[in-house]
Amino acid sequence: MSPLHYRGGALHLEGVALAAVAERFGTPCYVYSRAAIEAAYRAYDAAFRNRPHRVCYAVKANSNLAVLNLLARLGAGFDVVSGGELARVLRAGGEPSRVVFSGVGKRVEELRAALAAGIACFNVESAAELDRLNAVALDMGRVAPVALRVNPDVDAGTHPYISTGLKTNKFGIPAADARALYRRAASLPGLAVHGIACHIGSQLTDLAPLREAAGRIAALRAELAEDGIAIGHVDLGGGLGIAYRDEAVPSHAEYVAAISAPFDGSGVEISIEPGRSIVGAAGVLLTRVEHLKPGAERNFAIVDAAMNDLMRPALYDAYHAALPLRETGDATQTWELVGPVCESGDFLAHSRSLALAEGDLLALRDAGAYGFAMSSNYNTRPRPAEVMVDGERVHLIRARETLDDLWRGEVVLAD
Ligand code: LLP
Repeated sequence: MSPLHYRGGALHLEGVALAAVAERFGTPCYVYSRAAIEAAYRAYDAAFRNRPHRVCYAVKANSNLAVLNLLARLGAGFDVVSGGELARVLRAGGEPSRVVFSGVGKRVEELRAALAAGIACFNVESAAELDRLNAVALDMGRVAPVALRVNPDVDAGTHPYISTGLKTNKFGIPAADARALYRRAASLPGLAVHGIACHIGSQLTDLAPLREAAGRIAALRAELAEDGIAIGHVDLGGGLGIAYRDEAVPSHAEYVAAISAPFDGSGVEISIEPGRSIVGAAGVLLTRVEHLKPGAERNFAIVDAAMNDLMRPALYDAYHAALPLRETGDATQTWELVGPVCESGDFLAHSRSLALAEGDLLALRDAGAYGFAMSSNYNTRPRPAEVMVDGERVHLIRARETLDDLWRGEVVLAD
């Protein structure tokens, strides 16, 4: 049974009625399923079978300490993109020797913190970063393990804002420059070349571009071997997309077979950095209908969650299914689900057939990834509470923000 299901007319996540969570913790509120997160991680691990591999959860998707801690307990590695994310992983009990550090703009302090922690690998994205890392490592008397993130110039066929592997994107080192830069990296005393990294985009549901990118990385690995540079691991980027609507998504086994085929028999360790597919379907955002505002052109249902709580619809025109917490009769109207924020871009869903009344509760599905993690305090709205359910148990894993939290650190002029 899916962790999210109706029982007795009430929407449940695992063994917990979501209406009870809304009553207890208020709305808007994010709720995650422990079982769904753990199953998603294990599905990747199992799909690799006995190939040498590492599953590094992309912390950016959902960085709540409780989420990181569950994954750390399963032996996950972590992909971080800031000193803050690294600090969260360490705080949650993650193993630094399983952390990779991605991102185009790593600051000196962040490099220092990661070197001091002893992370597994820096995924370096430019010649300038290579020099900076070398200097920091020499200054600290350390040797930094590196992979170069190579931009394979493959069209991932996803939303332009989350496509990363094209020549026109800011990410990675152009494939044509990679070989020369590897030679340079190998010559720098503060660096030890370990791997090759690549990432072509997120919410991928077609395996062909992933297959193509993996093939290009395998070819580069062979060229580097000719240059006397041995590559022990390849990092093939984020994970699968998820079915927000009715997208056909390949299985974990198909995905792993596609990316690892060019390396079969090579003994190279394959890392992946899935975020969305581990936590996305494990979470919902609960919201309550404040007002109904039917109109001549459109019917607006004004709910208490907004673009600051779940930014994906406003930013990418993303689709999240909206489910009533109590099963209703057939809908007679379609609704625009909108928040209270003062922008017309503040919508959560368009044109949904729902039988709605003021005070009703809804769950926005598939909100576990890039939901809370991208939330803000726009319009001085405290960010939602976060809750984890585990069977019949309910844990508050982040208290709803208070107004005092919001102005902490602000100072008015004395005169
Ligand atoms: N590794 C790197 C280097 C990445 O840039 C990303 C995502 C991932 C791993 C994780 O990819 P995933 O498995 O989650 O597809 N905010 C957007 C998604 C941005 C993804 C950016 N990079 C959204 O809400 O759709």
